[in-house]
Amino acid sequence: MTTAIIELDHLQKNFGKFAALKDVSFTLAPGQVLGFLGPNGAGKSTTIRAILGLLKKSGGSVTVFGKDAWRDDAAIHSRIAYVPGDVY
Ligand SMILES: Nc1ncnc2c1ncn2[C@@H]1O[C@H](COP(=O)(O)OP(=O)(O)OP(=O)(O)O)[C@@H](O)[C@H]1O
Ligand SMILES: [Mg+2]
Repeated sequence: MTTAIIELDHLQKNFGKFAALKDVSFTLAPGQVLGFLGPNGAGKSTTIRAILGLLKKSGGSVTVFGKDAWRDDAAIHSRIAYVPGDVY
């Protein structure tokens, strides 16, 4: 079986008592292009930060190239680029 490029399995992120992400799951297969849409506050940036390993998840799993997005961030970062829309 081909390794997914990105795989989210029941990703959860809480900010204190506030559940920003509740069970977010999707897979990006090799060769696919994924559009990630949602209204303001839906959790798009939070999800992307978890994928980038910039933000520690509260539950579930996030892998990029089959590696853990948080633990293996350095190896993942050597293979990706990210252009943020909300820089301060
Ligand atoms: N560091 C944080 N601390 C507390 N709450 C946060 C934090 N970051 C995000 N949130 C909250 O989590 C929810 C999701 O925010 P997020 O920024 O991921 O949404 P978004 O889909 O990227 O929105 P937008 O379209 O406005 O960029 C929002 O209710 C937001 O207020
Ligand atoms: Mg955002």
